[in-house]
Amino acid sequence: MTAMISIKGVTRVFDSRDGDRIVALQDVSLDIAANQFITLVGPSGCGKSTLLRIVAGLILPTSGEASIGGVPIREPRPETGIVFQAPTLLPWASVMDNVLFPLRMMHRIDSTSADKAAALLKLVGLSGFEGKSPRELSGGMQQRVAICRALVHEPDILLMDEPFGALDALTREEMTMELLRIWGERPKTVLFVTHSISEAVVLADRVVVMSPRPGRIAEIIDVRTPRPRSFDTEGNSTFHEATQRIRQLIFGQRNVSAGRAAA
Ligand SMILES: Nc1ncnc2c1ncn2[C@@H]1O[C@H](COP(=O)(O)OP(=O)(O)OP(=O)(O)O)[C@@H](O)[C@H]1O
Ligand SMILES: [Mg+2]
Repeated sequence: MTAMISIKGVTRVFDSRDGDRIVALQDVSLDIAANQFITLVGPSGCGKSTLLRIVAGLILPTSGEASIGGVPIREPRPETGIVFQAPTLLPWASVMDNVLFPLRMMHRIDSTSADKAAALLKLVGLSGFEGKSPRELSGGMQQRVAICRALVHEPDILLMDEPFGALDALTREEMTMELLRIWGERPKTVLFVTHSISEAVVLADRVVVMSPRPGRIAEIIDVRTPRPRSFDTEGNSTFHEATQRIRQLIFGQRNVSAGRAAA
């Protein structure tokens, strides 16, 4: 299968304010097939957000190249939806207008748009909040609005940077399952960053484990557990193996049991 997203030898260097050269990503290569669900895990500062921003067309690699369908990514593309680590809503616009924003930018607003946005808001438990301002919402609620905004134009590629980080544990599990349902109904290529190993495994076809700075790919783990999945599947042996391997990679061989609490 040809790759939907192709990342070839990507290095990204930042010049910090005090003149240091920070190598955020070093020689990262990854091919993602259409409709694959990839999760990205690794320690803080290993370049996960940087990689997502490159695929989103928000920043360019220093060297190497990322492409979608063979076309180099030089700017944000309409077939991509992104959920940032922080909600980044327009503070002056209502919840509804925030969700509709991508359609408005693409001149794709029509008579069905408001219904579509309302259906997404219902999905994330925010019916009745359409007319509210983002500042009237909690952090977790704002993040759910941002998730609706990323989905409203039905993107083929969904980039999600710790989208459920601000949610309470229960809502987080619900949203994880909801995302799997949405993806199952209308498959799309997903690149999803998380700090939760169990979330990474329950969602993914492949888990990409990154090493500390300079960010590189330490290992790619296939999760062969059949779908549909749930967190109840966690006792499953393929699940367990994948989880253990990721813990080994992140916490080191000797700290596997200590790492369990952190995951
Ligand atoms: N615009 C920037 N200017 C300077 N340095 C940057 C910039 N963006 C990222 N970095 C640096 O690049 C490295 C990787 O950052 P990045 O945000 O990609 O990490 P991350 O894996 O997403 O971390 P976290 O899990 O904490 O979100 C960090 O050392 C960070 O300080
Ligand atoms: Mg990040």
